[in-house]
Amino acid sequence: MDINLTTQEITKIACDALIVSAARKTSDSGIELSTSAAAVDTVLAGLIAERSADGEFKGATGELLTLHSGGKFAAKRVVVVGLGSLDKIDNQSVRRATAIAARHLQKTGAQKIAVAGGLATNNFSAEEEAQAAIEGVLLGLYTFRAYQSKENTNRVNQVVLAAPKEHKAAFERALHQAQALAEATNFARSLINEPPCVLTPVELANRASTMAKEVGLECEIFEKEKIEEMGMGGLLAVSKGSANPPRFIILRYRGGSANDKGMALVGKGVTFDTGGISLKPGANMDAMKGDMGGAAAVLGAMQAIGRLKPAINVTALVPTCDNMPSGSSYVPGDIVRILNGKTIEIVNTDAEGRLILADALSLAAQEGLSPILDLATLTGAMVVALGHSMTGFFSNDEQLTQSIITAGRAAGEKYWPMPLDEDYGESIKSEIADIKQTGGREAGAVTAAKILEHFVGEAKWAHLDIAGTSYVDSVKAYQEKGGTGVGVRTLAELALQLAKK
Ligand code: BES
Ligand code: ZN
Ligand code: ZN
Repeated sequence: MDINLTTQEITKIACDALIVSAARKTSDSGIELSTSAAAVDTVLAGLIAERSADGEFKGATGELLTLHSGGKFAAKRVVVVGLGSLDKIDNQSVRRATAIAARHLQKTGAQKIAVAGGLATNNFSAEEEAQAAIEGVLLGLYTFRAYQSKENTNRVNQVVLAAPKEHKAAFERALHQAQALAEATNFARSLINEPPCVLTPVELANRASTMAKEVGLECEIFEKEKIEEMGMGGLLAVSKGSANPPRFIILRYRGGSANDKGMALVGKGVTFDTGGISLKPGANMDAMKGDMGGAAAVLGAMQAIGRLKPAINVTALVPTCDNMPSGSSYVPGDIVRILNGKTIEIVNTDAEGRLILADALSLAAQEGLSPILDLATLTGAMVVALGHSMTGFFSNDEQLTQSIITAGRAAGEKYWPMPLDEDYGESIKSEIADIKQTGGREAGAVTAAKILEHFVGEAKWAHLDIAGTSYVDSVKAYQEKGGTGVGVRTLAELALQLAKK
């Protein structure tokens, strides 16, 4: 995708389609035009205002009004997109509305599109508006068509952002940041959408290593022998049943001071989860190619961090394997020893995520990294609890809890805090090992988090269970069926915010 900035007058930008915005006024039923929409409206002798007065366009979120230039301005057509009610506009309404407009244009033949804003309110600045708009365009235009022979869909291949002359530098920064965040999200989406026969643990490690080279991160990949030597009993147990060998991926970004250990990002990288010997039912099992959504989020975030260069150190730790039933699989009744020495009694081989995360969290804690954030498509129980809209998360630190919610808001991702109360530790007591792998049906997302808590040592820690939000069936403003890339922008935002402290 070719993305540029222009300081040309709105009406002089040559393109297939120009996107401008308008909001619904709160005082009366009229609409408030952005400065760019107003400029177009002037050239069209008040046509937008007239259409709105006729009731054809009310400024509701995602509502579109298309007008042709008839030679009166350089763009072939202009699309006015509604942002919803004026007093509620924020970066997420801009992101969503612009995504809807861009998708519509891609479907209707446009190849070069321009985006112009000018509805900054008290809630956010012109640069933030521009950043959200470019994110919306890039997220909205994403498709995954690598395996379809017929490439018949039209693609937008050029995006121009209109910037007021006096804000040129700020808009350039906004564009850079938007591009890094959106492309990292789309990178994660594609990792998730790849079929499991392609995206094996070895391939995931290869893609991580290629990405690391591209953005200048240190990269270390442990193969099976090294994983054994490290004592990663969880990762070894889960991968035992598969013909695909496991990998352990470590990426390091150093933007902070040398004596600061920095934060850790841990991601569950199960490239396919059959459940193993405790085999899952067949229905929808294909969605379990998305069981590496945590790994994808962490790798995506590292790509964005590598490009945005915050003044902080960040280490990514990604255990990856698949979970298969075979004669060499681990089985219920087994006892597994994790890297930090603790033992876990295996109850159900489908609860594999916590085992591989336990090794990674132990290593992060051993290295003295803090805060540690882990992301995992960990439990069906979280999907039951919160569905597909909000990500439930657990943290042992009040401040980190708030930072995650705030970073999520900036990123357009919603998070909801869940409890780690000690009472929930009761059901994972074991008579034969240090802890039991599962705590039964009740509060399944919480007991899974309680298991992870055993491996984080003294670190500040948060566990984000993205089982409901990482892989979805529905199409929304900038969401397609499949991987969402949830977590990428929140983690990158969080790194940017921590770097400012
Ligand atoms: N990968 C699944 C969790 C999952 C379910 C992710 C639905 C996305 C959508 C995980 O490994 C799993 O199977 N967990 C079990 C744990 C149980 C056996 C204690 C579950 O949630 O049923
Ligand atoms: Zn499982
Ligand atoms: Zn799983």
